Amino acid sequence: LPNYDLSSCPGAISSLMDKAADALGARGVNVPLLYGGSGSGCSARANIADFERYRIVPSYIHENVEPILSTRILGKQVGTPLMIAPMSGLALSVNPKIMQLFAEAAREAGAILLLGCPLPLDVVRECAKIHDKVAWIVKPEKNGKTVERVREAERAGCFAVGVDVDCSRGVDIAGHVICQEWNSLGENEIGRLAHETALPFIVKGVLAVEDAVSAIDAGASAIYVSNHGGRVMDYNPSPFSVLSEICSVANGNVEILVDGGFKSGWDVFKGLALGARGVAVGRAALASVATHAEAQFGARAVFNIINGELSRVMGQLGIQRVSGIERKFVRQVV
Ligand SMILES: Cc1cc2nc3c(=O)[nH]c(=O)nc-3n(C[C@H](O)[C@H](O)[C@H](O)COP(=O)(O)O)c2cc1C
Repeated sequence: LPNYDLSSCPGAISSLMDKAADALGARGVNVPLLYGGSGSGCSARANIADFERYRIVPSYIHENVEPILSTRILGKQVGTPLMIAPMSGLALSVNPKIMQLFAEAAREAGAILLLGCPLPLDVVRECAKIHDKVAWIVKPEKNGKTVERVREAERAGCFAVGVDVDCSRGVDIAGHVICQEWNSLGENEIGRLAHETALPFIVKGVLAVEDAVSAIDAGASAIYVSNHGGRVMDYNPSPFSVLSEICSVANGNVEILVDGGFKSGWDVFKGLALGARGVAVGRAALASVATHAEAQFGARAVFNIINGELSRVMGQLGIQRVSGIERKFVRQVV
């Protein structure tokens, strides 16, 4: 592929993320604003640290299998359970076309691309034109315009829409509080939004069982377990650590998506084993900026690397399909 040299990448996403931070810092980008967390940074750190508390229990004696990553999420056949999380603001700070480039890479991987808010409607339209698996996570707006955004997502060609409920007082990070213009949403308002659209409706930002119950009662199609990457509140539990209890409440009636600190195929495997249908990467997708051809080819590298790792662990454990990644393969050790 022209301008695409995966051999120039060291492989692991974490080291690519370090390279990307250096490259962005050299361009004058405020890297802590992208990579950092609220307050002491506990939530963001826990997102990563908690993966160590769960270990993969291998069973090596089995027939050889060729793993298949394709699965179904929100009614769509997808090429991988790996998704890109909604991230707004990157067009301004990283690359003006980054969402369109993500859309192209997601199309090639058959993966879902989630878009964030605020984001110009034109960008949403362009991404949905590029790729048929684009979902828009809109914000609860103070002026009641959220319903309008849901309609815009439909008209733009998104296959799903949702709202993030965890950012009503803005992002509080690296000494800045930004994006404070949003509202809290009650169960009735979420219900109205969910029933306003025929598209699958996602409620993003759930960490507590009570919120999972409210989202289900409101008619959500999917609960997206997330602490916004630790960017909105200090001392949250990691989404990964609450995943099992949220999945128990959902009891298979709604799909569970998750993000927060996922950076490798092993992390994704554990998220799937604890019951998630899809796992999104946020900052890990910024590793794409570390490759010399930047976001499109780089995002392709992100999919290739993490999917490759997931496929290898499935192969080692004799799991052919994503649906075969069960709870028994993961053990909590501390
Ligand atoms: C730069 C940046 C912008 C973000 N913008 C949004 C957004 O617009 N809407 C949203 O729901 N979440 C947003 N998030 C949170 C991500 O969707 C996701 O929950 C989080 O980044 C996952 O953690 P990870 O970065 O450790 O993978 C943003 C995150 C980052 C890093």
